[in-house]
Amino acid sequence: MDIWDRARAVFPGGVNSPARALRHLAAPLVALGADGPYLFTDRGRLVDFCSAFGAIMLGHNNPKVREAVERQLGRGWIYALLTEQEVELAERIRSHVPSIRKLRFVNTGTEATMNAIRLARGYTRRDVIIKFDGNFHGSHDHVLVKAGSGAATWGIPTSAGIPADVVKLVVVAPYNDVAAFERAVREVGDRLAAVIAEPIAGNYGLIIPDRDFIKSLREETEKVGAVLILDEVITGFRVGLSGAQGLFGVRPDLTTLGKVIGGGFPIGVFGGSTEIMDLVAPNGPVYNAGTFNAHPVSMAAGLAVLGELETGRPYEVADAAAERVAKGIEEIAGRYGFDVVVKHISSMFQLYFKRGDVKTPDDVRKSDEKVYLKLHEIALRHGVYLAPSQYEVNFTTAAHTREVVEQSLRSLEESFRELKAALRRAS
Ligand SMILES: Cc1ncc(COP(=O)(O)O)c(C=O)c1O
Repeated sequence: MDIWDRARAVFPGGVNSPARALRHLAAPLVALGADGPYLFTDRGRLVDFCSAFGAIMLGHNNPKVREAVERQLGRGWIYALLTEQEVELAERIRSHVPSIRKLRFVNTGTEATMNAIRLARGYTRRDVIIKFDGNFHGSHDHVLVKAGSGAATWGIPTSAGIPADVVKLVVVAPYNDVAAFERAVREVGDRLAAVIAEPIAGNYGLIIPDRDFIKSLREETEKVGAVLILDEVITGFRVGLSGAQGLFGVRPDLTTLGKVIGGGFPIGVFGGSTEIMDLVAPNGPVYNAGTFNAHPVSMAAGLAVLGELETGRPYEVADAAAERVAKGIEEIAGRYGFDVVVKHISSMFQLYFKRGDVKTPDDVRKSDEKVYLKLHEIALRHGVYLAPSQYEVNFTTAAHTREVVEQSLRSLEESFRELKAALRRAS
């Protein structure tokens, strides 16, 4: 029995997270190792533009992170007691993200948004939340309504198993549409506990919102006394040290972080004003607890990654790489006669086979997903691992040097050539 048969016998769909199933391929990729910008797989070496769905910012197997983790392992790896590293990591996060005065470390982005929503409800003593079409905030009941990421890829944006009474408490508004959002806030009025939003949407492809939209999130929540939660699990420490809130100049009440700040180890953070955070147990009545909260290995990795990010160099390399690949793809696609839109910000990019711009989830739905998946499959054969779905995003890291980028563009040129020929044959 090969590994795929064995995997399917023990895991639903053969995987432990749907986005790994790569349903457009005959079988998913099997990882054997990783280093720098490369994944080593059962299909050979691939330049990795998925970057663990944005969890790494320095590339794979970064020596600084590895050394910090190994040092921690030498001192034991779990205590379930307070440690100095967690205090230090929290202080450094606070110094970069002014809206966070107090925080709690949890283990995943899912836990972070689940607790932030519970806290917002506890603080306001209200129940209804507004979330946005195509935004993804992890896999708990209160956010799996019209969600993005794997939920969109697999066509189950609203999960089965969520009680109807919970769905009633979640109002879904269109993303990047100020008028529709204002209407939704008016309709919910003083029952609104919180608005949760990705400040740059990275789970329905890449959607970069207008500044007015972000501004309206702050203004409208303030008007009705609701909590604004910015979910920066992707953007936190990726689009800069102060995240998308720094980029857009907006101060949320609560922020969720994850991915990058764990250096590739499990982490989640929810944090915000002292007034709200002091409602969390043991100070207050909103409960959160976790055996693995502030896990020493994640804290060590987080401090190591942050030390590098604070030099600014990783952002220079990763951002330049994303810009060059985005431009390169536009040029290559144009040469082969494809209508392609490429969206790009900081170290994130995504391409869409369509005409016109991409500003909303509806625009993403109008792009040709089948052609995207065909390109993905062909690019794999040419040594490039693009984001495995139209609804995901490509991420560059500090390991995506100019040389790696140029090599990738040559592979993508070959891939587009082959894609063109394949589509011609099929028509
Ligand atoms: C914006 C956002 N929030 C929350 C999550 C959930 O994080 P995790 O997968 O660590 O539970 C994700 C995961 O992709 C995410 O992109």
